[in-house]
Amino acid sequence: MQKYARVIASGSFLPKKRLTNQDLVEILSKHQVDTSDDWIVQRSGIRARHFAEEGELCSDLALQASVKALESANLTAQDIDMIVLATSTPDFIFPSTACLLQGKLQKKYGAWLCPAFDVQAVCSGFIYALSIAKAFIVSGQAQCALVVGSEVFSHIIDLKDRTASVLFGDGAGAVIVQASEEPGILSTFCQSDGSVAPILWVPGQLHGGQIYGDPFLRMDGPAVFKYAVKVLAEAAEKVLQKSGITKEQIDWVIPHQANIRIIQSVAHKLNIPFEKMIVTLHEHANTSAASIPLAWDVAIKGGQIKPGHYVLLEGVGGGFTWGSALLKM
Ligand code: UT7
Repeated sequence: MQKYARVIASGSFLPKKRLTNQDLVEILSKHQVDTSDDWIVQRSGIRARHFAEEGELCSDLALQASVKALESANLTAQDIDMIVLATSTPDFIFPSTACLLQGKLQKKYGAWLCPAFDVQAVCSGFIYALSIAKAFIVSGQAQCALVVGSEVFSHIIDLKDRTASVLFGDGAGAVIVQASEEPGILSTFCQSDGSVAPILWVPGQLHGGQIYGDPFLRMDGPAVFKYAVKVLAEAAEKVLQKSGITKEQIDWVIPHQANIRIIQSVAHKLNIPFEKMIVTLHEHANTSAASIPLAWDVAIKGGQIKPGHYVLLEGVGGGFTWGSALLKM
């Protein structure tokens, strides 16, 4: 009997603190950084972002999103037999944030055990995590996986760096992936190129109680922009080919929410109407591994994505990493 993996529910969470561009401009001006709402909107499409409070960590955001996904699926944590969590802003070096999340879920739902681990693929992390969950389910090693993208990028942005500081936000999104008789996740594709790592990285190391190097996100914006458009278009083509689905059959694309101009360029390159792109970056900014599941949850709850739709997900980020997934809802 052929076994498939299907996404059956989603949930998301944004920290309470919402900063408009103007709020951020005022904060940055205290660091002698000159920027404006106009520049941010023109160059990125971002209008607002959410920042976690002091002490509000990646696992806290992940817990809120996971509980919502479980409730939406009418399941409890004890129905879950695998947790894969994508993040680049974990609570600690170890244990993994997935284990911390599992511990927090036990507090709410009672004692239970399951494998739980993090995936580090920066903004492509959710696609990587989804691919792993699919592989475990299709090979019979799991029946019901919780797949989470959760980030607190506010922890790693340098308020003196005017480009990087205006682009990112915090948030979490979670989905439940279950074994099914019906096809759901049709195919996935993941790729990386470590030779260009320095175009987007946090080059700091912890050693002997000291930070060596730089603990902040650094990026070559235009280089990331160009590479992102190229590989996102290729990733989309790849997963379409693997699934035997045409571009015309695609109902929705959920791209990584980094920059509206990247999304427009990819839509143009793929010849997919921009109206089919789910866009939430104006409200969320770039939440890295959380961006796709956050946008997904908004599109599901907003009634845009419906049963039977073909949905293309695509992510790109530090590493350099990229990937895509094609789903039948
Ligand atoms: O998940 C992936 C994460 N990273 C990304 O997605 C980043 C991808 N790259 C981008 O989104 C764009 O490259 C940026 C939004 C980062 C920058 O847009 P751009 O059109 O590539 O601008 P640029 O870097 O070429 O900079 C244009 C100008 C420069 O001034 P000069 O040299 O022309 O005088 C910058 O110094 O804009 C200046 N600038 C700013 N001005 C006001 C850079 N950041 C700011 C700012 N406010 N925040």
